Amino acid sequence: MDAIRIYGGNCLTGQTKIQGSKNASLPVLAATLLINGTCEVENCPNISDVFHMLRLLESLGCKVTREEGLVRIDTGQLSACDMPADSVGVMRSSIMLLGALLARTGSVCMEYPGGCVIGKRPIDLHLRTLRRMGVEIVENEEGFCAHAASLAGVLHELPFVSVGVTENLILAAVLAKGITVIHPAAREPEIQVLCAFLQSAGARISGAGTDRLVIEGVDSLHPVRFHVPADRIVAGTYLAACMCTGGRVFLQDAPCQHMQSVLECARRMGTEIICQKDGVLVAGRGCAALEEGLITACYPGFPTDLQSLFMVVMALSGHSGWIEETVFENRFRIVPELCRMGADITVQGARAYIRPVNRLCGAIVEAKELRGGAALVAAALAAEGTSIVTDRHYIDRGYEDISLSFRELGADIELA
Ligand code: EPZ
Repeated sequence: MDAIRIYGGNCLTGQTKIQGSKNASLPVLAATLLINGTCEVENCPNISDVFHMLRLLESLGCKVTREEGLVRIDTGQLSACDMPADSVGVMRSSIMLLGALLARTGSVCMEYPGGCVIGKRPIDLHLRTLRRMGVEIVENEEGFCAHAASLAGVLHELPFVSVGVTENLILAAVLAKGITVIHPAAREPEIQVLCAFLQSAGARISGAGTDRLVIEGVDSLHPVRFHVPADRIVAGTYLAACMCTGGRVFLQDAPCQHMQSVLECARRMGTEIICQKDGVLVAGRGCAALEEGLITACYPGFPTDLQSLFMVVMALSGHSGWIEETVFENRFRIVPELCRMGADITVQGARAYIRPVNRLCGAIVEAKELRGGAALVAAALAAEGTSIVTDRHYIDRGYEDISLSFRELGADIELA
């Protein structure tokens, strides 16, 4: 079955190594298209979104090999610029190839990437900003074709912060003619990683990590070997799970410096957090109230990707609380599933209101998307009795082997 069976109630103890970052790996893999030659990307997570990205690169004529976490991409024989619909449809991150392919080949045709349950996920700002750099885009019902004889650096004053648009514009700008300014740019660590990868290959980028990026186009980039840092959202997932079950877990390689808003929230909820040079130690349940609620925001605010996980922590804390989701319009899909486990949560507009309950009870629940699915696993680990989390494939998009990782930490969990 495409499911996970969990018998809840065990405390999590021990240590787990945090995988490489999905949301840093994907734009770095797309960026290899800008480089004529073979790049080596270390610590790429073994997850289905990376698998689909590598398949897309192969469909474009790249030679891709993988040994454990080391991926080699040779773009010397880049031949196509039309991406297979089945891979584009499966994975939204295919939009990240747009900027890189336009910079390398000047031409791309692709279907509109799928939305998902957390929101419509439009690409209007991607297309509008690329048009300003000289890209001609002809749209039709299913998708679009984009052409650019050359890309021109321009000043982008964006109407709102977008991680994906920032990444696409960086990829379009590094080989463009002239200077590109992106403001407000996304400040996420994944943007900083992408900039570090490109700078190591010879790109001229300043302002990484700030809301103003300045990119001076260069003629070419050279192949590099690059190490992807650990995934701050996966680390936050295991941290939240420990807060749900109680216990003591060392998150090896967890990037403490990029998790401050999450660690602060955990401390406010009574969990002991100790940052060490090679990871983060988490101890104790989250059993204090978050008086002032929790509001998701762009980095360095509280990440939307951990909103569902902390909804579960709050549901188990024994206190009332509320969460406001400000990034995506439909990211409370986990609420009905949690209520079937005995949680008392109601949604009003962009806010979810959580009221205290004595316990959660095991149930059959449905993972509807990646982070909500991981949150249901965390809830099941703390619930009384047996749970089945169905549609595990959503979770496999972003977690290497969530059931093995939790089993190694003492959970009673197995694939079903
Ligand atoms: C990235 O998505 C991440 N995905 C998401 O992680 C993350 O939740 C999100 O950034 C916010 O941090 C990857 O990095 C692969 P946005 P992205 O553009 O780039 C709207 C996960 O679980 N928008 O910053 O798609 C958009 O609808 C995933 O790993 C437009 O309206 O996010 C959203 O409401 C989920 N038009 C808001 O902007 C556009 O053209 C912010 O989205 C583009 C975006």
